[in-house]
Amino acid sequence: MSDMHLIALPRLQTAIAQVVRGFGSSPDEVAAVTGNLIEANLTGHDSHGIGMLPRYADAYLQGGLTPNAAVSTVLDGGSLLRLDGNRGFGQVIGAQAMALGIARAQAHGSCIVALGNSHHLGRIGAWAEQAAAAGLVSLHFVNVISRAIVAPHGGGDARFGTNPFCAGVPLTGRPPVILDFATSMIAQGKTRVAMNKGEQVPPDCLIDDHGQPTREPRFTVVPPFGALLTFGDHKGFGMALMCELLGGALAAGMTQRDGDASQKRVLNGMFSVLVDPAALADRASFEAEALAFIAWVRASPVREGFDAIHIAGEPERAWRAQRTAAGVPVDATTWQEILAAAGRLGVDAAAVQAAAF
Ligand SMILES: NC(=O)c1ccc[n+]([C@@H]2O[C@H](COP(=O)([O-])OP(=O)(O)OC[C@H]3O[C@@H](n4cnc5c(N)ncnc54)[C@H](O)[C@@H]3O)[C@@H](O)[C@H]2O)c1
Repeated sequence: MSDMHLIALPRLQTAIAQVVRGFGSSPDEVAAVTGNLIEANLTGHDSHGIGMLPRYADAYLQGGLTPNAAVSTVLDGGSLLRLDGNRGFGQVIGAQAMALGIARAQAHGSCIVALGNSHHLGRIGAWAEQAAAAGLVSLHFVNVISRAIVAPHGGGDARFGTNPFCAGVPLTGRPPVILDFATSMIAQGKTRVAMNKGEQVPPDCLIDDHGQPTREPRFTVVPPFGALLTFGDHKGFGMALMCELLGGALAAGMTQRDGDASQKRVLNGMFSVLVDPAALADRASFEAEALAFIAWVRASPVREGFDAIHIAGEPERAWRAQRTAAGVPVDATTWQEILAAAGRLGVDAAAVQAAAF
């Protein structure tokens, strides 16, 4: 297992902002990208945190990621928006797309946002949290245009990405319920993190290049490539398919089938549905019923081997509290990769190192 660094949050923020400045980003973009990536680490999703920066640097240097881009509106149907992310940082494009959709949902009661051509949107939960903060329920079906990495149920090679699904429910005066997961058994980034840590992945997550079960994370990181499996057998596969049909074919007009695997860029298509519960029902009685159901679910006796019944979004909040106080663990391999990426971006890696420690 490789060494771990524990980096205090303010130091990590300073160090990562220095790296992101290497993209030539505006101050607002530096803040958005730095904040979103570190937030993924804080919420326990290292796979979508600062460890993505080396990939972003390669994508940028190849011309597949365009700093300082903004979302543009391709179709304005009032409560139907079709948006183009112009290959900008997903951390910026996602926030802009949600802001546009939120304004329309507040005006019309609901809005469908079809976003294509955005660079990696990171942790999709961030976009459900943005909608929930505005009092909106949201659903997000997302496809990934990159090297295919997940096999269809019953298939022996990779045909699509880790296609995340996310849903958020706001509760006045309380944290929202945020369900946010990849439709693969584990997120791709988690295999990279496992490989960097020298760990194996759990059983039944991965097949090798011959379609045989393996626990070696390298089969999704370096050739010869195998594939991740979908969660829940045909059920996760079905959700992944819908993410591709809705986030890909419908929202982005592009599916993984078209992806150029030689490119480092990761594009996401996202089909989002935003609903104002107050426009559809009585907000107070909706929330009272939702809270009563959550209490009913929590009253189930905790089975052996489990610590408690958790509601989606709670694990992330627990991680955030713990890591905000104690610092963010970053494995040594990932940290070295970030310093190397800084160098490729023309940033003084020694200064980044000095800022972090
Ligand atoms: N942008 C992209 O291309 C892309 C692709 C794939 C995944 N992702 C992101 O990767 C992140 C990680 O995905 P993942 O599949 O590893 O997530 P995961 O397996 O950790 O599942 C997370 C979800 O399950 C809930 N949860 C976790 N433990 C729970 C428990 N014990 N009881 C009840 N609920 C629990 C969490 O609150 C959260 O909603 C997500 O943020 C996702 O959006 C992004």
